Amino acid sequence: MHGRIAPANAEWIAEAGHLIRSGALVAFPTETVYGLGADATNGEAVARVFDAKGRPSFNPLIVHVLGLEAAEIIGSFSPMARRLADAFWPGPLTLVVPRRDATGVSDLVSAGLSTIALRAPNHPIARALLDAAQRPIAAPSANRSGHVSATRAEHVASDLGDKAAVILDGGPTAHGLESTVLSLTGEAPLLLRPGAVHAEAIEKIIGAELARRKAGGGIVTSPGQLQSHYAPRAQLRLNSPTWRPDEAVLAFGAIAISPARAIINLSSSGDLVEAAANLFAALRELDASGAETIAVTPVPTHGLGEAINDRLERAAAPRG
Ligand code: TXA
Ligand code: MG
Repeated sequence: MHGRIAPANAEWIAEAGHLIRSGALVAFPTETVYGLGADATNGEAVARVFDAKGRPSFNPLIVHVLGLEAAEIIGSFSPMARRLADAFWPGPLTLVVPRRDATGVSDLVSAGLSTIALRAPNHPIARALLDAAQRPIAAPSANRSGHVSATRAEHVASDLGDKAAVILDGGPTAHGLESTVLSLTGEAPLLLRPGAVHAEAIEKIIGAELARRKAGGGIVTSPGQLQSHYAPRAQLRLNSPTWRPDEAVLAFGAIAISPARAIINLSSSGDLVEAAANLFAALRELDASGAETIAVTPVPTHGLGEAINDRLERAAAPRG
């Protein structure tokens, strides 16, 4: 059954809802492009999304919900954010807002950021899936990293093969262009990614010209990389098989036990998916132990290990 394209009838949507709840990945159509969905509250399912896409690093994902009520459980909406959701949801506008604490949504979804991207899709199959799963669904575009977004079930099948347990077929998508990503975490709304909702339509609602985020030379870079990621206060010491008793330890796989201020093993069985799912919460917890340094034991560099190491290197880099 893996990777099969299925008709999006009531039986398959119910089955897809079960699959999401059991931690499997489901590809589904939205009005923009196909998404590769996982239960946003299941860290290992979210880690498998990164694995399936072959992402070299953890770019934050969009969490799909049925509407504002569900979104406000996960994110904190200002009056302006609410006005925009009222005007454009359900639809192809993604709103980046501050994350609420302890919502059950995995830290990996937003790659350790204190903000979260939310959108209510306007596609009957996407909505029926959200309703069947009764979970917020984290979903990037259903293409391999670096490839163009998939606008047909067949594109998903050829790009992601059997990475999705099922691909719900909704025919070609209406927009064929991703959602507009708008940040509401600063003083004024900031356009992070132009998309299916035009800037002019947003400007009408906010009653002002929209700020656009550009990096040096006027080139717009990946929005996820512009946000400052969670940086531990403690200094990280990478690839350290041993540690001092006053250090905190971020371990992976089988390790020799010796005294430490605190030890968290990302995966004692050496499973990179499990490790990715635990990474951001573990960094926060070790930082809270008050240790000056966190010794990190070696993490393999294959598969998701590449993204884990990339994130650890950035956390270890001197801050500017
Ligand atoms: O139309 C769409 O938006 C599709 C469908 C499936 O919903 N999804 C999509 O997801 O295009 P993805 O992962 O390919 O793109 C998500 C974009 C990325 O540019 C990411 O950096 C940005 O949203 N993003 C997600 N969370 C963010 C956050 N907390 N802060 C800033 N940018 C964020
Ligand atoms: Mg994409």
